[in-house]
Amino acid sequence: MTHLPEQPASITYPEDLPVVARREEIARAISQHQTVIICGETGSGKTTQLPKICLELGHGAGKQGTGHLIGHTQPRRIAARTVAARIATELNSPLGQLVGYKVRFSDQTHPGTCIKLMTDGILLAETQQDPLLRAYHTLIIDEAHERSLNIDFLLGYLKQLLPRRPDLKLIITSATIDARRFSAHFNDAPVIEVSGRLFPVEILYRPFDDPAESEDRDLSGHSVRWMDAVYMGRAIC
Ligand SMILES: Nc1ncnc2c1ncn2[C@@H]1O[C@H](COP(=O)(O)OP(=O)(O)O)[C@@H](O)[C@H]1O
Ligand SMILES: [Mg+2]
Repeated sequence: MTHLPEQPASITYPEDLPVVARREEIARAISQHQTVIICGETGSGKTTQLPKICLELGHGAGKQGTGHLIGHTQPRRIAARTVAARIATELNSPLGQLVGYKVRFSDQTHPGTCIKLMTDGILLAETQQDPLLRAYHTLIIDEAHERSLNIDFLLGYLKQLLPRRPDLKLIITSATIDARRFSAHFNDAPVIEVSGRLFPVEILYRPFDDPAESEDRDLSGHSVRWMDAVYMGRAIC
């Protein structure tokens, strides 16, 4: 008998993320609409928190192997792995159990996996064997603003798939505010805009004729030494 990973008793969220602040509104939109576009700056919590909101809504918890998965795509392999690891940590679950990932040459999922990270190329390839994407209950197409060939193919494929899979939920995320174009593509799907986290920015200048300049011919070494000086409070402003 396959031992299935345990669902977390309760899902916790980092308090200070804009996506978390709008969690109820996002959950309501996902429940009421087949497609939702979430738009927010980098660091607002789209990638790490949206799958948890879906999990809390009961997505990903259906009968194993029959369209229960929350599929979450990333443009790059390294992101698929690191995002999976981060979400697994936040859910207190070992990687490859409740949260797994699949990239080329490596499938770290489990029969009981609920959240599956993958590259958008992997999801596109899966349409060959599973044209209706029946393995999935929910799909999160992350970083859609990157508009790679894979993402554009997927968005085109999903548009014609949605009427044939009325039970499939689709969430598109974008870090830019051109989300209206995604909305128009998906029959005016609702757009939720979350503001990013704002950090104070201070502009510091080095003297033009700094003698240290001549020692720091390479840009990276120069930047590191300068950041070190700022950190140690030795910066000349
Ligand atoms: N691997 C990680 N390790 C530590 N903190 C992380 C990691 N991934 C994300 N975070 C934290 O979660 C916050 C939200 O990140 P994320 O969900 O990736 O936002 P978005 O997708 O909107 O850019 C980040 O600002 C960061 O503080
Ligand atoms: Mg992200």
